[in-house]
Amino acid sequence: MSTSRAAWSPTSWRALPAGQQPSWPDEGALESALKQIGSYPPLVFAGEARSLQTALGHVAAGNAFLLQAGDCAESFEEFSADNIREKLRVILQMAVVLTYSMGVPVVKVGRMAGQFAKPRSSPTEKIGDLELPSFRGHIVNNELPTAAARVPDPDRLVQAYHQSASTLNLLRAFTKGGFAALDRVHAWNQEFLASSSEGQRYMQVADEIERAVQFMRACGMDTESNPNLREVDVYTSHEALILGYEEALTRRDSLTGNWYDCSAHMLWIGERTRELDGAHVEFLRGVGNPIGCKIGPSTSADDAISLCEALNPSRIPGRLTLISRMGADQVESKLRPLLRAVTDSGHPVVWACDPMHGNTYTAPSGRKTRHFDAITNEIEGFVRAHRTEGTWPGGIHVELTGENVTECLGGADALSDADLDHRYETVCDPRLNGRQGLELAFRTAELVRSSPAN
Ligand code: TRP
Ligand code: MN
Repeated sequence: MSTSRAAWSPTSWRALPAGQQPSWPDEGALESALKQIGSYPPLVFAGEARSLQTALGHVAAGNAFLLQAGDCAESFEEFSADNIREKLRVILQMAVVLTYSMGVPVVKVGRMAGQFAKPRSSPTEKIGDLELPSFRGHIVNNELPTAAARVPDPDRLVQAYHQSASTLNLLRAFTKGGFAALDRVHAWNQEFLASSSEGQRYMQVADEIERAVQFMRACGMDTESNPNLREVDVYTSHEALILGYEEALTRRDSLTGNWYDCSAHMLWIGERTRELDGAHVEFLRGVGNPIGCKIGPSTSADDAISLCEALNPSRIPGRLTLISRMGADQVESKLRPLLRAVTDSGHPVVWACDPMHGNTYTAPSGRKTRHFDAITNEIEGFVRAHRTEGTWPGGIHVELTGENVTECLGGADALSDADLDHRYETVCDPRLNGRQGLELAFRTAELVRSSPAN
């Protein structure tokens, strides 16, 4: 482990080993793409990242809850207003359910507007008889099973920037322009949802919220123009995997003089690239954004504390979110020692549960999937671990889409292996559909509510 760290700069990561970087065939083309992105405007402002950090500070203190949700991998092909709106709609529904039933503010962060890059377990994969470079997300290559499609193309970095800008633009329009206003809470229920049991349950919550808003209006409050009721902050986040891209969007904030990675409000480090002496930890330790780090079952208590020291040496609440992805069977036993050790070290962290990535398996049909029961079981074990250790189960981090896809098994619809072929559309991991997402919000709220914070 490194003890003293040299001075940080946006390029200091380049001196260290960087895992999961594509081998770009043409260095010159890569450099010119990054130079171009470096000349483009930032996607987010430093002040917004600071607001998110403040909000996450409340989560760290046990007074708010984090909902981080969106695609496993955004797609260049599935890029439309409908797609973005439907995803936002489910996130808003989940947020409303969590806020209403838990009675604490919910910090909303999308895996959106930049979540393109994927780490892979192997640099190549076998498709039939073909050995091909792995698909690394649309920011790098294409998932089609041909050698040509898998060649990393730097133009994709530029395209990812533009798609992120458009997505963020629409998100800002929807969240500030009236779509997210609380008096529209009924309108977020999609048709396919309305008939389902979760949809009905959601309608009850919506009715109660409507009555509450009516009550406030009757009391003389201006509910129509009050931004607290009309607007919502939905922040953006993605895994900061392709470091050249992140470096190109890293800018010095004119107000504070600090560096911010302006590709998104929040960035995280994946389980596969969290080496203390690696380039990803080096890069993210120097930017002012709130950051996350995924931690899997092999994480030791020492690892967790060292990550806290490296990524949040000043111990700023909200700066660091540890996102555990242990698997339903192991979450309680693996997480508890980490909760204890980090708490004893005095490091303030947001503890979030990623109940997706430790519960992925290949179904008999050959499809990669996850079972809804395993996902809720991991959240249950996560909450139980926190209850035992006296810490706050700060949030969930999930992969979902607003569309009615059939990628994860189970849920109220009891999707089975045979259903997977109907609408299996993800370019990477299996996502919860709108119904399953909403159901998960109800279950999570019940679990956390029945588990008072110490
Ligand atoms: N602004 C509040 C919040 O973000 C209330 C709110 C408005 C809200 N629209 C929302 C909450 C949509 C959840 C979803 O919490
Ligand atoms: Mn994933």
